[in-house]
Parts: sequence; structure tokens; C-alpha cells
Amino acid sequence: MTQPKERWATRVGLVLAMAGNAVGLGNFLRFPAQAAQNGGGAFIIPYLVSFVLMGLPLLWVEWAIGRHGGQFGYHSAPGLIQSLGKHPIWKYCGVFGIFTNLAIIAYYTYIESWTLGYVFYSLSGVFSNQSAAEVSEIFSRHLDLDAGSFLNVPVLAFVFFLVTLAVNLWILSRGLSKGIERASRIGMPILLLFAVFLVIRALTLNAGEFGANHDATLGLNFLWQPRLDALGDPRVWLAAAGQIFFTLSVGMGPILVYASYVRKNDDIALNATSAGWLNEFVEVILGGSLVIPIAVAYLGLDWVQSNVGFEMGFRTMPTLFQNWGPVFSVLAGVAWFGLLFFAGITSSLAMGQPVVTFFQDSFGISRGRAVMLLGVVAVMMALPCIFLYGQGAFGEFDYWAGTFSLVVFALIEIIAFAWVFGIDRGWKEITRGADIRLPGFFKAVIKYVTPLFLIAVFIGAVFKPVDSDWVAAASHLFGGNGWPFAPDSIIGTVFNIGVTDRRWFIDGHPTSVFVVDATRIFLLMIFLAIGFVIHVSWRNKAKQRGGTVR
Ligand code: ALA
Repeated sequence: MTQPKERWATRVGLVLAMAGNAVGLGNFLRFPAQAAQNGGGAFIIPYLVSFVLMGLPLLWVEWAIGRHGGQFGYHSAPGLIQSLGKHPIWKYCGVFGIFTNLAIIAYYTYIESWTLGYVFYSLSGVFSNQSAAEVSEIFSRHLDLDAGSFLNVPVLAFVFFLVTLAVNLWILSRGLSKGIERASRIGMPILLLFAVFLVIRALTLNAGEFGANHDATLGLNFLWQPRLDALGDPRVWLAAAGQIFFTLSVGMGPILVYASYVRKNDDIALNATSAGWLNEFVEVILGGSLVIPIAVAYLGLDWVQSNVGFEMGFRTMPTLFQNWGPVFSVLAGVAWFGLLFFAGITSSLAMGQPVVTFFQDSFGISRGRAVMLLGVVAVMMALPCIFLYGQGAFGEFDYWAGTFSLVVFALIEIIAFAWVFGIDRGWKEITRGADIRLPGFFKAVIKYVTPLFLIAVFIGAVFKPVDSDWVAAASHLFGGNGWPFAPDSIIGTVFNIGVTDRRWFIDGHPTSVFVVDATRIFLLMIFLAIGFVIHVSWRNKAKQRGGTVR
């Protein structure tokens, strides 16, 4: 609240920054992996339904919360959520909006730094004349995964991480319009250009040309032929909803903060819708036309379905590009890793901004100091992800911050907005100054359907049974044998179900179970520390004003 007033310079800049926040590594690496692992065409329908019933409503709600709270001078999640209700508890719910960003930024910037490293590798011809196994090995070496030691010590990767983080911090230090907005206006067109270049190449691949074994359309058909048989499978719905959260960055916090710099009567309905659809275009049309069609053309559908994962973008793609000739393969490598870098940085900037405003607001410090503090905390939090990547620390960050917290925070936001602030006021807030007419039935969707959808997703994740077989699980329960929690359900994860040897140390050496549990404790402490900072700073502000603060 002590911050100097910042504003977006232009509407195009705002939409590009919001779209840049959404368009990220998730669009090009996570989406293809999720789609392929969940049956391609079987995934698309739950994915699109989740976008319309949950993604779009949450976008409007987050933009509205941000613009509303911004009128009271709030630019940080605790104040923005508190502006919706009277009870003092709401500001503590804002912990999620800081925690997720801080934790995601730690591992996200690390992946972003691989893409920067890989741009240099591509330019220097490291991949030429290398076998598939050798190219995959380059990735293991970059992350120091093969050394067989407990700690990974990836010196080069660490240097690239520090450089990537420094670039992020420098842009953040320049402020909203001169830093983030300018970076988005440069980064977004470049990434779209690179993506279109690669998509044209990918979609014109035919069997027998450039070493391809199949037409690229084989992969496209796999993604786009809708299959209705999986509609009853909660596992596919969970994956689809999770992807919508991650890709739109809803339940995360950046949208609230970006929107808090929008003027009171400026449109948010059309802006939010445009940024959301732009993200979907980039994800489904461009992201869906790269990894899967190219990999299927060379390696076949079966191979892709059993090997797909986000590491494929690094381990496999550079080998496939080699089929396109010496010059074109370098260009393709630069375009692919370059687009990933620009997609990543526009998202990591968006995660940095909420933390910076939180530090400014809580400690009354300048933007420059807040950015430096973010740098220190981000390095501290990234250390486990970098040095214990192979031991599971990275996965814990992604699970608790990048998956679990998003659903919880989104649920809190929608309840605070539609039920506490009130859907009538809320709908007026969304539609004030709107440049499009939003269909009125979305009012009911926001009040009932989206919260129920979120509750179903949450319950599904908490109680997910073994093999996602809910019918078998119910008969197991009624047969008196208890509920068979899947190891990756929330309960299964918390209690390490399926882990047979739970010892922290074996022969005096720490185990992966230790790393996983220690990472959880570490994340919990960060979460509580943020809550404590909120408590102290609000109390101090109340004292300064000589009264009480909500
Ligand atoms: N929304 C960002 C992405 O898709 C986080 O990567």
C-alpha cells in the first residue's frame, strides 16, 4: 500500500502480459505429455469442458478480484482476498497466492534455464552426428543425473540457472510497464513466430521424407479424434482439470496481481477472455502440433505413448531435428528452445511480481530491494530442486505448489467471491466497463458449477483409489476392507502409501524418502513463515494507524 502507483501502459501490453503469464512451458511440454498419457482424443473433451466450466470463470473471477482490490491500494494476494470479506481470516488465505509463486518460481526458473542452455547447445552444434542415446545423455550430464552420487552437482546447469534468474530479476526491477510489459511485447511475438515456423515444418512431414516413418497426421489424429469411452474415467478428468489450472495460471496468484493495476472502469471481461483464448490457441493448436506429431512421425505412436514426459522435449527432440539437415536442424533447435525460453520467462516474471509486491507491502521496502530479496529466497528454494533433482525434491515442489495448492486456492477464491462478496456484486464487478456481453448463465456457473467442479476435483484427488477404479474401491470399502487409496492420491502421498521401506537413513546415508519428507517439511515451513509475515505486517499497519485493521 506504500508502493508508488504503477499502471499498464497499453491495453495490448496488458493482454500480452496476461497471455504471457499463461503461455508457458506448460503449453509446449506439459500439455502434450498429459494429452498423450491420457489417451489423446480421450483427453480433449474433459480438457475443453474444464476450460469452459472452470478455467474461463476462474479467469473472470481473478481479474475481478484483482481490479476490485486494486481500487483500495492492494497489489498483493492477502489484501486482495481480504478486500472481499470482513472476517480477518481472509488475508491468511492469501498465503497460497504467495507460496505457490515462490515455490513454483524455484523449479520453473530452473527448467527455463535448461532451455537457455539448450539454445547454446543447438547453436554450437553439440547435437550433430550424435545418436539418440548420446543426445539423451547430454541431458543427464547437464543435470548431473548419471554420477550415481546422492547429490547432483550440475555446475553448468547451476550457472545457467543463476543467469536466467538474474535476467528475470533485472526485468522485474524495471517495473510493470518498462519491465514486464515490454518483455511480453517482445517475447510473445517471437515465441509465436518460432512456434509457427516449427508447426509448418511439423505438419508437412510425410512418411519417407526427412527420415520420417509416418505422416505427421498420425499424431494429430491421435490427439484430435474425440473418444467418448474415457468420459467416465475420473483420472482423465483430474488430469485435464490439473492441466487447465497450470496452463492458465489460475489458483496461482499472478492474475490477481496483474489485474490490480487495471483502472476501475476499464474492461476486464474481454481482456480476460482474449488472454484465455490466446493461451488455448497456443496450447492446443501450436503446442499440440509440435512434440506429438513430430515424435510420432519418427518414433511411432506406441513409443510416444509409453515414453512421453516433459523431459522428452530435451532428450528426444534435438535428435529428431537432426533429420532435417545441418542448417535446418540448428534453426529448429534454436526455435524450439528459444520459444520455450520466451514462454517460460513471461510466466516466471508473472510469478515473481506477486512476491515482489508482497515483500514491498509487508516490509515497506523499495521495488529494487524487494527484487533482491526475491532473488535470495528464490536461490535458497531452488537449491533442493537443483541438487536433489534425482532424489524427488523437484517432484514434491511440483506436487504441493504446482498442483495441490492451485486447486485449494482456486476453491478459496471462488467461495470468497461468489458466496462471501456475493455473486450479484461479483457479476457487476466482472461486467463493469465490459467490451463484450458475457452470457448471463455464467453467473450461475460461477456460483454453483465451478465450485462444485472444484470440490469434485479436490475430493477426487484426495480419495483417488488404486487404478482409479472407484467401483472396485467402493466394494472394497463395503466389504469391510477399507478404502484402497492410490499411492498418488493426496492421502496416499501424505502417508507415503506404496513405499515399502520408509527409513530416512540406511547405513548412515540419507534416502529418497528422507529427501521427500524433508522437502515437505521445508515447504510447510515456508508456508507458515509467509503466514507469520502477513500477521506481523498487518498488525504493524494497524498500530501505525492507531486502530484495528481487518
Ligand atoms: N501457465 C504457465 C505455464 O503454462 C505456468 O507454463
